[in-house]
Amino acid sequence: MKDLIVLGAGGLGQEIVWLAEEINESKPSWNILGYLDDNSTIQGNVIHGYPVLGKIDDSRNYPGAYFFLGVGDPRLRRKLVDAITRYDPKWATLISPTVRVHRSNKLGTGVGIGRYSDLTLNCDIDDFAYVNIHVVLGHEVTIGEFSVIDPNVCINGEGIIGRNCLIGANSFVRDVNVGDGVTVGAGSVVVKDVEPDCVVAGVPARVIRMGSPRHTLSKTERTD
Ligand SMILES: CC(C)(COP(=O)(O)OP(=O)(O)OC[C@H]1O[C@@H](n2cnc3c(N)ncnc32)[C@H](O)[C@@H]1OP(=O)(O)O)[C@@H](O)C(=O)NCCC(=O)NCCS
Repeated sequence: MKDLIVLGAGGLGQEIVWLAEEINESKPSWNILGYLDDNSTIQGNVIHGYPVLGKIDDSRNYPGAYFFLGVGDPRLRRKLVDAITRYDPKWATLISPTVRVHRSNKLGTGVGIGRYSDLTLNCDIDDFAYVNIHVVLGHEVTIGEFSVIDPNVCINGEGIIGRNCLIGANSFVRDVNVGDGVTVGAGSVVVKDVEPDCVVAGVPARVIRMGSPRHTLSKTERTD
């Protein structure tokens, strides 16, 4: 059993712990130590049986442990990795036992795949990307580092999702190129290439804003 610490104790962080529990039910693999989170108000709390052990920088106190990102905002994911890289951390890969991964798929460091997602063939999931539950990826789909694919998304074969993207729940992305730093609103249908660093939404998806979303992507994730 390897020690596991989840970075971020908000909604996604708690889902990640459940994912690790699910893996343990199938094959005992992870000794889940708890969370690290910079939110001062939750230090010492116990969430569904697992403690908030300290702040992100306290990762230095766990040299043998594996870490996994428990936040869904791609910018915050990158920030957390950058924050603790100097401690030379080990990163876990967490794949639900309900997911079948063909040997032709490439999975980077720190990747996660949630319950009942389905990857077909020759997909390339880059470092620290997270594929949430019930996602379908067609053949030759590429997902860039730190990108997050929300529940029920379907990505057409040969679709390319750049780095630091968030693809909102229930979206469909055709065989197009979605640039780095793009947010796709929930329930959107993306039928043509999307330029980098913008927010698109709707059916068909159109640019609603350049840069980042106006509203925070999660009420339970803090960046302080
Ligand atoms: C797109 C999104 C990121 C919001 O971005 P934002 O920059 O804060 O956008 P706003 O809320 O200011 O909305 C701007 C406009 O886009 C529209 N809009 C927002 N989200 C939309 C969506 N998903 N589909 C269609 N239109 C949408 C708003 O109605 C608004 O229209 P208006 O100007 O005519 O009033 C957010 O609505 C979204 O869809 N997030 C994904 C959530 C998700 O999938 N979570 C899963 C968690 S597991």
